[in-house]
Amino acid sequence: MNIDLSAVRADTPGCEKRLHFNNAGASLMPQPVYDALIAHLDLEQRIGSYEAEDEASETLEDFYGAIAEMLSCHRDEIAYTENATRAWDMAFYSLPLEAGDQILTHSSEYASNYLAYLHQAGRRGLDITIVPSDQYGQIDVAALESMINERTRLISINYVPTQSGLVNPAEEVGKIASQYDIFYLLDACQAVGQMPVDVGRIKCDLLTATGRKFLRGPRGTGFLYIRRSILDKLDPPFIDLRAGHWIDRDHYEFAPGARRFENWESHVAGRVGLRHAVRYALDIGLDNIQNRVVKLAEQLRTQLTQIKGVTVNDSGEHKCGIVTFHRQNEDAFELKARLLEKQINISVTSSASARLDSKFARRQKYARASVHYFNSEAEVDRFCEAVGQ
Ligand SMILES: Cc1ncc(COP(=O)(O)O)c(C=O)c1O
Repeated sequence: MNIDLSAVRADTPGCEKRLHFNNAGASLMPQPVYDALIAHLDLEQRIGSYEAEDEASETLEDFYGAIAEMLSCHRDEIAYTENATRAWDMAFYSLPLEAGDQILTHSSEYASNYLAYLHQAGRRGLDITIVPSDQYGQIDVAALESMINERTRLISINYVPTQSGLVNPAEEVGKIASQYDIFYLLDACQAVGQMPVDVGRIKCDLLTATGRKFLRGPRGTGFLYIRRSILDKLDPPFIDLRAGHWIDRDHYEFAPGARRFENWESHVAGRVGLRHAVRYALDIGLDNIQNRVVKLAEQLRTQLTQIKGVTVNDSGEHKCGIVTFHRQNEDAFELKARLLEKQINISVTSSASARLDSKFARRQKYARASVHYFNSEAEVDRFCEAVGQ
């Protein structure tokens, strides 16, 4: 089904004056999301924050329902977190990994995740193994299978990396993880909101995401999915009085389900906003969103390639809404600043975010333009004209 472009643009006042191709950094909140967020802050100011939270209890409960519907899982398998990194850390640091255990990951891995591997490899004596890429630049699934041994305890990759339009074959990886009964942690931070993500089909045990990117939620929000069947194998790295119940001097018990990974204090207005953002995406339909995003990104790649001196650098058999490119003789930050003067938003992706990605052997940084469904074909034309000037 086609998305009603004029309706979604009318809901996105920011796109009247700005050409926003930085949806992989942080997207623009739709009006209903912004309204819900502001209405909650307003309520907090008028009646008190705790009282406002009580009044919003149905919406806050539906935070779990909406995300569960989006991922096709159970509401008890979702925890609210303040960003994707916290969700990912709670997942990773809970895993029962011991000296000699092997983690299989990929060169597209995100900096914060890899830092955590290094941190724990040093402390617990873990082995970090990088699975090679196939001819498309994505994780090589056959190589992954061949590298599994009796010490392989975790497969941990991203669905979509921060630094390219690549979409890793998450479902194929999931088949192998489940066949060999290995924990599978999927960083879906850049995927959720721009494509359907079904944890049953992917067969991941843990999945992490953020609110502000393709989901178009408020900043400072994120969530964690944990498959019910592995919950009791995990040991949260720390707990508080929301994550656990204090029984007596010597005893406590974990809160039921994934809530044992939450904090008592949180950005309640952000949770309300993210709930609305998820419902907004579900109403449009994630298949419809993906179709439009892929089409727009392809148009952008094609038109960029036609500009003299511009090279597009995305790998992957299947690509998404993130487009990375460079222009001969123009530094990526200078290009970004030049575009900003024309009210055009992009970001720059650098090797600091993904040191193992081979594209950074060729150059240290690239321009990153990330489209969303509310962007228009005319914006792609205007963007390419501005890049080429
Ligand atoms: C692939 C990937 N994983 C994780 C993160 C971290 O997300 P957050 O900033 O919400 O913690 C990012 C952020 O850009 C990302 O691109």
